[in-house]
Amino acid sequence: MGEKAGTALEIGVGTGRVALELARVDVEVWGIDNSPAMLNIAESNIKRLPARTQEKIRIMQGEMTSFDLGWEFPLVYMPSSTLSHCVTTEDQMKTLRCVYDHLERGEIFAFDIILPSSRYDSALRPAGKQPMGERTVLRWISNRSDTVHQVLHTILIFEVYEANILIERVMESSTVGLITRREIELLLEKAGFEIKNQFGGFSYSEDITDLLVTQARKP
Ligand SMILES: C[S@@+](CC[C@H](N)C(=O)[O-])C[C@H]1O[C@@H](n2cnc3c(N)ncnc32)[C@H](O)[C@@H]1O
Repeated sequence: MGEKAGTALEIGVGTGRVALELARVDVEVWGIDNSPAMLNIAESNIKRLPARTQEKIRIMQGEMTSFDLGWEFPLVYMPSSTLSHCVTTEDQMKTLRCVYDHLERGEIFAFDIILPSSRYDSALRPAGKQPMGERTVLRWISNRSDTVHQVLHTILIFEVYEANILIERVMESSTVGLITRREIELLLEKAGFEIKNQFGGFSYSEDITDLLVTQARKP
């Protein structure tokens, strides 16, 4: 594999939320995602950037368990607990191996995962309100963790209101994997990484409870 100096690779780039911010500060970012719908939104977000910034971003469809871009990057990152989209240990391991193959020696893979915690469990509750032109979208969420199978089931309901009248209700459900701290440490070790730092969130807290941020190095 060749090397992509000064470039970062995001796994599960989604709408480009993070990648766009990096491009704005002159980092060259590549991003993969397996969802054409997310990549379409990312494309339209990229088109709204100044031409010089647009050139910094390259996104493509790819499956995190089996991608091969032919390059090694000085930084690979995977925000928003994207690894949790791999529900089985086998898929988690395949992803870590792919990441390893795309990282330059001595460099960092940074990612966060939600840890198993009863704190996620909740009955249906309001989770935000967003104006969209003439309409308002109310979001409801309910979570149920299954500690035996180490998964978290989520139900999201979106209610669309126009002039205070409900005109549409859409329900979505998803299941993500819950990986324990010890498990991720073992998986990283098995994939060839060494753990450089671990924090309990993005403010570098040493108190690790339900969100684990890890910086793993390829030796
Ligand atoms: C929680 S979102 C994070 C999006 C973005 N990284 C962010 O922080 O805003 C997870 C993303 O991972 C993508 N994804 C889920 N499973 C995937 C897979 N197996 N391969 C590649 N991308 C995947 C989803 O389509 C989604 O865009």
